[in-house]
Amino acid sequence: MAARPVAATVLLLSLQLAWWSSSYPGVQVLADAAVLGRKAGGLLLAMRDGNDDDNDNDNDKPVINAESSVNAAAAGPGRYAVIFDAGSTGTRMHVFRFDNHMDLVGIGHGIEFFAKVKPGLSSYAGEPQEAANSILPLLKKAKRVVPSELIEKTPLKLGATAGLRLIGDEQADKILEAVRDLVHTKSKTQFQYNPDWINVIEGYQEGSYLWVALNYLLDKLGVGDYSQTVGVVDMGGGSLQMAYAISAKDAAKAPKAPDADDRYVTREYLKGKDYNIYAHSYLHYGAFAARVKILDAKKYGQFSSCMLRGFKGNYTYNGQQHDATASPEGAVYGKCREEVAKALNLSAPCVISCCGCCTFNGVWSGGGGPGLDTLYLASSFHFLAAQVGMIDGKLPSAKSTPSAFRVAAKKACQMSVEEAKAAYPGVQDIHVPYLCMDLTYQYTLLVDGFGLKSIKKVTLVSKVKHGEYYVQAAWPLGTAIEALSPKMGHRHRAHGFE
Ligand SMILES: *[C@@H]1O[C@H](CO)[C@@H](O)[C@H](O)[C@H]1NC(C)=O
Ligand SMILES: *[C@@H]1O[C@H](CO)[C@@H](O)[C@H](O)[C@H]1NC(C)=O
Repeated sequence: MAARPVAATVLLLSLQLAWWSSSYPGVQVLADAAVLGRKAGGLLLAMRDGNDDDNDNDNDKPVINAESSVNAAAAGPGRYAVIFDAGSTGTRMHVFRFDNHMDLVGIGHGIEFFAKVKPGLSSYAGEPQEAANSILPLLKKAKRVVPSELIEKTPLKLGATAGLRLIGDEQADKILEAVRDLVHTKSKTQFQYNPDWINVIEGYQEGSYLWVALNYLLDKLGVGDYSQTVGVVDMGGGSLQMAYAISAKDAAKAPKAPDADDRYVTREYLKGKDYNIYAHSYLHYGAFAARVKILDAKKYGQFSSCMLRGFKGNYTYNGQQHDATASPEGAVYGKCREEVAKALNLSAPCVISCCGCCTFNGVWSGGGGPGLDTLYLASSFHFLAAQVGMIDGKLPSAKSTPSAFRVAAKKACQMSVEEAKAAYPGVQDIHVPYLCMDLTYQYTLLVDGFGLKSIKKVTLVSKVKHGEYYVQAAWPLGTAIEALSPKMGHRHRAHGFE
């Protein structure tokens, strides 16, 4: 009986994903992370491992907590946080509930309450009031989900991803101001509120909150020191984030980030322990943006050495066309690797003068150390590996090594577009010509960019099993945990969204 709505849900999900995928490479470039599973995961954030319907084989049943869970309003006591993820295609709201030990507890049928509206705030350039009003339905739902006596103790945060800035700082600020006004006064909700909590979320914050969420879900926080934690590299479509815990000694060595809004180290007090979290967001090094850099880094004449034989045409990203025609001989792994290395700008001068303390493109590496010994690779790493059959994509996570990407790259590079279409039926046609490039990029990034040994065991992850749920580690959960954690220790105040 219950199988029917679930099936409908799965269909809806596939349609959504298909829509996102086919909209690429279109105008909504910042939707690209969705194609790779990360943002799309918001839809299937609550994955149940349950036996609550008659289809026992299907333990990957997505449960969308939308209208149906609103009647979970009497969800009961606990500590709640309401987090808005204002992306370019829509605004998503997550309501998380924790017990007094800061353990995540379910709301209704899921591990969170989730709802979203379309389009995103950035579609309302010049209409700040309309932008603010667009989230009103979500606010109303939040008010129904959180028990009324707890609303005053419930923090409400909105993090707008960088897409909002594309409409210009002034327009973006007006929209954020209107949203603050709505949340603070107009809507007459009494959520805990701080103007700084409604802001653009910087890349490094996305990285450090992701780290918090992942380590929380893996039960790594509060046990032992930072060496017990795991590091994470998360590749979206536009940008790439790295985050891991470092020692206080290394944290003290952090250089000033070149950009005033950026910083390398965030200090968090979580589950009774202080953590120095190194995080950096490499803008334009996400899976789709990096293709542009690689196409711009041709070393052997007019053709890219990374494009599969037989491809003719342009790569469109952010509305710009880039010639991606393959050379007559097709892709050559060794040459492609050189072009990828060039795109990574490995020889760029390091922000601080020291030996080997930068990753690539002049970015401080954080110094390495035990916080990086166990490494999780998220979003596009998992997605691509699953698509080419390196791992079983049905599993929420799988172990692999950088060298497995090299093996897959060498194989793909030899193929023509047609051969690759036949060999990788799981890869969408529009992405097939880039398989050699994408795989070579991921390998080169890990080994030359981040200096990993090619035999290092890494975990490719899309979701983390936490209790009975498979949960996607993403920044909204991290920021909810941070917002509800007691503030102790020596906290570093970040400006803006924190
Ligand atoms: C590729 O882009 C160039 C420059 O923007 C344009 O002149 C050309 O017609 C495009 N080619 C294709 C196949 O779309
Ligand atoms: C490489 O880094 C240098 C120095 O930071 C910078 O000027 C240059 O634009 C970078 N090149 C690429 C391709 O990103």
